[in-house]
Amino acid sequence: MALIEIENLVKSYGKVCALNGLNLNVPQATLYGLLGPNGAGKTTTLRILCTLLSPDSGHVSIAGIDILKHPISVRKILGYVAQEVAIDKILTGRELLQLQGNLYHMHYSDIDKRIRELNLRLDMFDWIDRRCGSYSGGMRRRLDLACGLLHSPTLLILDEPTVGLDIESRSSIWELLVELKSQGTTILLSSHYLEEVEALADQMAIIDGGKVIAEGDPENLKNQLGGDRVTLRVREFSDEIEAQSVRNILESIQGVSQVVVNRLQGFSLNLVVDNQAAVNRMRERLEEENVQVFSLSQSRPSLDDVYLQATGRTIMDAEMEVLKQRDTKAEAKNSMR
Ligand SMILES: Nc1ncnc2c1ncn2[C@@H]1O[C@H](COP(=O)(O)OP(=O)(O)O)[C@@H](O)[C@H]1O
Ligand SMILES: [Mg+2]
Repeated sequence: MALIEIENLVKSYGKVCALNGLNLNVPQATLYGLLGPNGAGKTTTLRILCTLLSPDSGHVSIAGIDILKHPISVRKILGYVAQEVAIDKILTGRELLQLQGNLYHMHYSDIDKRIRELNLRLDMFDWIDRRCGSYSGGMRRRLDLACGLLHSPTLLILDEPTVGLDIESRSSIWELLVELKSQGTTILLSSHYLEEVEALADQMAIIDGGKVIAEGDPENLKNQLGGDRVTLRVREFSDEIEAQSVRNILESIQGVSQVVVNRLQGFSLNLVVDNQAAVNRMRERLEEENVQVFSLSQSRPSLDDVYLQATGRTIMDAEMEVLKQRDTKAEAKNSMR
């Protein structure tokens, strides 16, 4: 039996549909990655799991407990590290942890013992007795983690745990997660960083538009895609028609498929080749058609390709769309003023 079972979860915020029939099973003692662009519905899913938010419909159980019916019992076994945390600025890190321990009804001596352990593991000595207001992003994130881990949960849920962190802080958090998993903790982590899910997850789901669009072992997901991915940079397109004509040429070549014009980077195309012969045919044909190739890079499929295959766009493009929509909304608001 899976530790977390989510069935047909639906959640809207007013007119915005955040979850549109999401299904997910997370096995025990795995590090499960939830990958998706901004706005995909990751935070909404995790907040529902942590019983901080009610869905409109659907079924969620953790360790066989229906969390919508029995929220209190499930809170004891899970630790949650939110995406954005409002840490009190006046308290010190230690005081905040003590407060957290009290909220979980932990015994004083246990709280002190756990703080000592976490202090050691997360290397917080230098600043744990300083006021939180003075912490850097990396310190704050480590304190968030300590708060999530204080009551030794068997299920740890983290929402984008390393956003905005430098490489060093990021890798120390990665190390800690791997260690926790080896000790039997089940970890569910959301991220829009491909590398993060790639580096950590045993199992993963790609979520987009409030639905799971692919799931499984990251290696299998990539291998299922078959051929090599190619990114081709060509001379500048003067307009959309020209971009489409290059695309049409490529699509007519045997062994070349899934040609996508990469709008974000202007003059590049992504495609899939069956084998090396297809690459050679492509080079010849483009030369005949006077399409100058500036660069050609070839690689095994990545998780971004899994996403591209399922949605027809890259994660980066999906993120840009969200940003653009936000800008348009903000502009509309301003113009109404
Ligand atoms: N409190 C809210 N009010 C209105 N819309 C929201 C709220 N929270 C999230 N949304 C919308 O729901 C969708 C999913 O958001 P979210 O779960 O935060 O996605 P993610 O964490 O993957 O970025 C987005 O379109 C987002 O704008
Ligand atoms: Mg989020």
